[in-house]
Amino acid sequence: MQAMAEIRNIVILTGAGISAESGIDTFRDAGGLWEQHRVEDVATPEGFARDPALVLRFYDLRREALGRVVPNAAHAALARLDAEWQPENGRGDLLIVTQNVDDLHERAGAPYQTRSRVLHMHGELKSALCLACGTRSRWDAPLADRPPCPVCRAPMLRPDVVWFGEMPYQMDRVYAALRQADLFVSIGTSGAVYPAADFVRDAREMGVATLELNLERSEGSLWFHESRQGRAGDLVPAWVEEVLG
Ligand code: OAD
Repeated sequence: MQAMAEIRNIVILTGAGISAESGIDTFRDAGGLWEQHRVEDVATPEGFARDPALVLRFYDLRREALGRVVPNAAHAALARLDAEWQPENGRGDLLIVTQNVDDLHERAGAPYQTRSRVLHMHGELKSALCLACGTRSRWDAPLADRPPCPVCRAPMLRPDVVWFGEMPYQMDRVYAALRQADLFVSIGTSGAVYPAADFVRDAREMGVATLELNLERSEGSLWFHESRQGRAGDLVPAWVEEVLG
């Protein structure tokens, strides 16, 4: 690993494991979402076309559940890093790329000046996408009752969540940040879904140092320069402490 003093620009990838201690189910762990539901029913455009009511209800319940959970120590530690790791104070750039559709990174704290350094590559539960006009609107209410789009009024809103077979958001920005990065850190993700699972290999090809923080070794674990196993609520605050010195 590179000495901490040499690190300026950091890209962090987070997955469901970072929100597990907040009480949100992961996808692939025992009892996870993909044991309870068929991916093709609730996370594909074809599933939505077959049974929109089922899909809208699935995401309505998940959006509603966000009201019953709070960010944990790992989200708080990354919020602190976001607040303190700024080019102006001699540190560097930071981008938090999350595969999560929850809003716990944002809610982790007042330190966030803007949401611009958190990128939801798989979309957000609190956003709705209009199938008629393509507008993405902040959304906090159910979609199952087919409310109108705030822009074009068509009752054609779907969850603004990236389904299998669809293109994740803002990949250009992720790759641009990786090209500038000195360190790539992957937190709480199984490394089972592409393109996120490839970020570690992309980073290595670009000469970036790589670190994994996960409950267990992920599928791509061997690609990382260093892998630490444990709960995100323990590992992430300790790592942030190390980085901030
Ligand atoms: P997964 O459920 O595939 O993986 C969660 C990872 O977090 C596993 O490797 C767990 O070992 C780890 N984990 C569980 N509890 C943890 C804890 N307390 N601390 C640290 N790690 C913990 O979730 P993702 O990798 O996020 O995409 O899944 C990637 C994508 O697959 C999701 O964004 C979603 C899903 O299908 C779409 O829906 C498009």
